Amino acid sequence: MSLSVKHLLGIKELQKQDIEQIFQTADNFKEVLQRPIKKVPSLRDTTVANIFFENSTRTRISFELAERRLSADVVNFSSSGSSVSKGETLVDTVNNILAMKVDMVVMRHSASGAPWFLANHIDASIINAGDGINEHPTQALLDAFSIREAFSKGSKKATLKGKRIAIIGDIMHSRVALSNIFCLNKLGAEVMVAGPPTLMPRYIQDLGVKVEYDVKKALEWCEVANVLRIQLERQHKPLFSTLREYAMYYGINKQMLDSLKKDIVIMHPGPINRGVEINSDVADSKQSIILDQVENGVAIRMAVIYLLSGKREVLE
Ligand code: CP
Repeated sequence: MSLSVKHLLGIKELQKQDIEQIFQTADNFKEVLQRPIKKVPSLRDTTVANIFFENSTRTRISFELAERRLSADVVNFSSSGSSVSKGETLVDTVNNILAMKVDMVVMRHSASGAPWFLANHIDASIINAGDGINEHPTQALLDAFSIREAFSKGSKKATLKGKRIAIIGDIMHSRVALSNIFCLNKLGAEVMVAGPPTLMPRYIQDLGVKVEYDVKKALEWCEVANVLRIQLERQHKPLFSTLREYAMYYGINKQMLDSLKKDIVIMHPGPINRGVEINSDVADSKQSIILDQVENGVAIRMAVIYLLSGKREVLE
């Protein structure tokens, strides 16, 4: 009942067995979350700090709920309104929080690699809640867990081996894409990335993925489409002409889905830009599991925190 790593920095460092153990533990916590009292006492002696140097809605609320459902004490820090604006360094900020007897740190940062840097300077376990354009490991875990759920029948859990997953959109600036590629590859899925050439990193095929620039062909190939937002905040030069043109050529709409000879599963990590990368009639359709992804995020994050804490309690 523990992982092969002390921190959850990226999916790249995880073994396949770690991912499977996180899923099995999340299955148990998902059952807990269906109960009238959605709480277990597992982490009642643990304090977790959520330190967010970048905006978040889903990840931040989901981590906080996961921690409270495990009975942990929770402190929240956001860089706006903090002493970071007075020039305090990341290590000093975190060490000051840890001096108040914090056991675990959940961190989001706009700088790629920030959680690895921190892991070399502090003793507490760190969970990466998204670093720059690098990794977003809990998002990839909840995405893969949601795909497994979508293909499971009753209590028999599906495997992702051989499943065809297309990740569509702004691949270059997406930490969700990179973590998903690592996670899906480890679980034996076939992965395709699709989108405009200007938003496709060079050498992406070296990660063992297929590359497609025609979104319609990607949809025809896949069983699951994970649609990503255009990350305008990370683009310092224009990489396509207009959002309207992007929507015309790369946005997913109902007409496209209806033209396929099959039903595919639609995913999106959020936040959604409706009418740009995905239309409302797709995001809100029966094929969409977008809100299931959000729901599963709490169980996955409970599992990660619980397993990193090294607790050995039975979960009942
Ligand atoms: N999916 C995701 O990371 O969303 P937030 O930025 O709202 O946390």
